[in-house]
Amino acid sequence: MRKTMLLLWCAMLAASCAHAEISVVPRPASVQTCKGEFVFSGDTAVQADPALDAAARVVAQLLESSAARSGVDPIQSISIERVKAPDLGAEGYILDISPGKVRIRAQEAAGAFYAAQTLRQLAAQSRAIPCGTIRDMPRFKWRGLMIDVARHFQPKEEIFKIIDAMALFKLNVLHMHLVDDQGWRLEIVAFPQLTQIGSKREASGKFDLCMSPAGDAHQGYYTRDDMRAIISYAAERFITVVPEIELPGHATAAIASVKGLSCLNKRFKVSNCWGVHQDIFCAGEDKVFEFLEKVLSEVAELFPGPYIHIGGDEAPKDRWKACPKCQKRIKDQGLKDEHELQSWFISRIEKYVNALGKQIIGWDEILEGGLPPRAAVMSWRGMQGGTDAAMQGHAVVMSPTSHCYLDYRQSAQSEPNAIGPVTTLEKTYSFEPVPEGLTAEAAKHIMGVQGNLWTEHIATPEHLQYMAFPRALAIAEVAWSSKTARDWAGFSRRLPAALALLKTMGVNYREPREGELAK
Ligand code: ACM
Ligand code: ZN
Repeated sequence: MRKTMLLLWCAMLAASCAHAEISVVPRPASVQTCKGEFVFSGDTAVQADPALDAAARVVAQLLESSAARSGVDPIQSISIERVKAPDLGAEGYILDISPGKVRIRAQEAAGAFYAAQTLRQLAAQSRAIPCGTIRDMPRFKWRGLMIDVARHFQPKEEIFKIIDAMALFKLNVLHMHLVDDQGWRLEIVAFPQLTQIGSKREASGKFDLCMSPAGDAHQGYYTRDDMRAIISYAAERFITVVPEIELPGHATAAIASVKGLSCLNKRFKVSNCWGVHQDIFCAGEDKVFEFLEKVLSEVAELFPGPYIHIGGDEAPKDRWKACPKCQKRIKDQGLKDEHELQSWFISRIEKYVNALGKQIIGWDEILEGGLPPRAAVMSWRGMQGGTDAAMQGHAVVMSPTSHCYLDYRQSAQSEPNAIGPVTTLEKTYSFEPVPEGLTAEAAKHIMGVQGNLWTEHIATPEHLQYMAFPRALAIAEVAWSSKTARDWAGFSRRLPAALALLKTMGVNYREPREGELAK
């Protein structure tokens, strides 16, 4: 009897529905709200398709934190249903909210999980959430955040925290920059010295380049079990971890740990200072490829995702120009110059990685001297690299410094020491990943967007979070919401509720200052 009355009431209310704004980040594709509310309480039954149990877990947590059970039979329900609706794709969902009933519909587990995240954001604002229908799906399939754990290591618990925040805003790729001149952060069974030696440095640069390495000594690395824990924590939240093993440049930690990998016959130390380093892997030395192949085969085995990031950026060619072995390689392979040698190097690695069943992705320098046949490109020095790669039919992730570098300072006034110019939240939010004038065919190759957080000047988790948030929310909305759905004023209105939720999770963020958000 009670149920019938509720249904009748809902039918009457449905007549008074309208498009409306709700405080959810990223902004859903379509929202209709109606009169009435669903009130979260302990007296709620959950029915879930077993295939969608990740969503059920989120919902169960929401209900647990609601009012205590009264002991009577549940009078309301949340159902999580698997449906066939090809236009929703794997990540889309429909969320129907009415008095006494919430219905989540999705094709796949990821879609239902994202519906639950939307519900979570709404429930954090009020236990009584407005009735209505939300129909939602992402614009891009790669919605990424890169954390540089090479310059400053972050313990796995801190990575879990970042993953939790990413999931809340429907980001789905965590790119971990695992190795660089200043540290090697992943255990490799074949070369224990990579972490015994390569995970430690004596000091840390205070400024760019090597002018004043007066900061603290630093160390840390992930065991394989640590990394497995990160990967599975992320996977439970529909986030793929993409490992980056830098080559041929930014290789000092590796060169310092394993003999015979550089062009010079000398011993190196893990670098204490930032910037582009001259000493890179020797392209003429076969031992370098034996080393990289062993490393990459372990990495491919550990990380289940389809991509391995191989770096490729900022590899000065001075050593190769002066190295007899590198010059012999150029001659033997019939190459024109050192740029073609880099392309040959990356192509050789690509072939190996492909044979392991994976694809490579690299920074846009991998276009120089010719792009390897199946490589995906991460465009960072602007949009041109990504544009050129997309025109050649290669998959592209846009992450230009201008909008997507989250290590840049967030305002011109009193910010912590940081690299580069100012990239405000509004600037990040204004990013459009598909360049104007790109053909529709080429535009299909833009896989998505990524925010990059380099950590030369970021040592603590609090500082890391301060730099990441709220700009990662702007990245999330650029990556998820349609171009027409985005508007700065709306984002400014929706942001405070999202930040309040981050606060309850213990995640630090930069509070927007007077005048920074739209009125
Ligand atoms: C980069 O910022 N060097 C990719
Ligand atoms: Zn060499």
